Amino acid sequence: MTTTPPTAGPGAPHPGTAPPPATLDFDDPGFQADPWALYEHHRAHDPVHRSDALGGYAVFGYEHVREVLVSPRFSAYHPFRTSRRAFGPSMLDRDGDQHQRLRSAAAGPFRPRAVAGYAERIVAPLAGELLDELVAARAPDLVDVLARTLPFRVMCQVLGLPVEEAPWLAATLAPLVDYVDHGPTTLAEVTRRREELRERLQRARAGGARDGLLADLASDERLSPAEVVNTAVLLLAAGTETTAAGIANVLVALGTRPELYRRLRTEREGVPGVVAETLRHEPPLHVTLRFAAEDVTLGGVDVPAGAPVNAFLAAANRDPSVFPEPDRWDPLRRPRRAPLTFGAGRHVCLGSGLAVAELETVVNAVLDRVEALDVQEPAPRPAGRTFRAATPVRCSVRPAAGGAR
Ligand code: HEM
Repeated sequence: MTTTPPTAGPGAPHPGTAPPPATLDFDDPGFQADPWALYEHHRAHDPVHRSDALGGYAVFGYEHVREVLVSPRFSAYHPFRTSRRAFGPSMLDRDGDQHQRLRSAAAGPFRPRAVAGYAERIVAPLAGELLDELVAARAPDLVDVLARTLPFRVMCQVLGLPVEEAPWLAATLAPLVDYVDHGPTTLAEVTRRREELRERLQRARAGGARDGLLADLASDERLSPAEVVNTAVLLLAAGTETTAAGIANVLVALGTRPELYRRLRTEREGVPGVVAETLRHEPPLHVTLRFAAEDVTLGGVDVPAGAPVNAFLAAANRDPSVFPEPDRWDPLRRPRRAPLTFGAGRHVCLGSGLAVAELETVVNAVLDRVEALDVQEPAPRPAGRTFRAATPVRCSVRPAAGGAR
């Protein structure tokens, strides 16, 4: 989750270097359309950048981004962190023992065996059901509908809420995510919607939810009732917008490569590489935030204690010293180091296994049912502030005769 303070004005220019086509400002339409040249520029010329627009520092190279995420010299805590205001206090903005306690209470259901169970019991049937409808209708917005709908249905079932509540959940979460994403939503609106969400989860915790993650959290003695609800809010927020962007991005990657798509229909062992490379190349979340816990010198730049540091995960994923030819989308790539799509260190994404399983299951479900998924030309490119997805997507859907398997 990104939690940078609100933006104001462009970043400083760099003497002696060609100006990048956008400014490091989430409000800049150039940034929203295409931040990659800007990342490259900073990585090469100004890797630890002081940014007025972001109200703090920003790092772009793989080593610097990793250092900020992994080193105890950087803290996740700030009382006014945007994500804390939006979702309430949670593991995302805690350090040390407090973080460990909250994280370990929620970790059980995200272990590999549990995730495999979710993929089989929850994701595959939900994806199949939704896709059967969309394919039968030859829906030109199949990608968008799938991306917008499936992650919310999945999270309802994972938590133990009725799937029918998914549209309400999506509408209630949208302003929270927009606020964290530097959008126009006001804090008053965020507070109102979060209270509605808390109230619903509180009711489910107290009464209805017997199976699922919410019931597991509620029976954990390490968590107070408020922490149970805040953890559920975080899981809902963290597990939906990101996964939705991942679904859209991977289906556009495939829908614009008909040859590869055809091959994958019979060679499914290629699916994990397609998903992994899309998550590296177009990560759903571009940046996260830390605060210097003490005076730190990073890349020769003095960062004072308390300063916000924006860690650009997406820029790190295209650092050429770690990923050769980083702008090339290559599903056969076997990187020697892990992309930072899911972060690193103590706060590394708790749901990464579920996210990857969800994306792979969706891709397989589409390959099963759709002979050809031709995405419009020119294909939509991922765009946005910190959450970035290809949208809107239009495609022509040719249903498979009897499936590929
Ligand atoms: C493609 C999809 C996803 C992406 C790209 C993603 C990305 C991330 C990143 C970068 C972080 C680290 C944030 C930081 O260090 O400040 C994170 C944390 C987290 N993610 Fe994900 N995430 C995804 C899906 C999910 C899912 C499906 C869930 C759960 C259902 C989830 C739950 C969490 C939680 C609970 C944290 C906080 C962990 C902590 O603070 O210890 N995420 N995610």
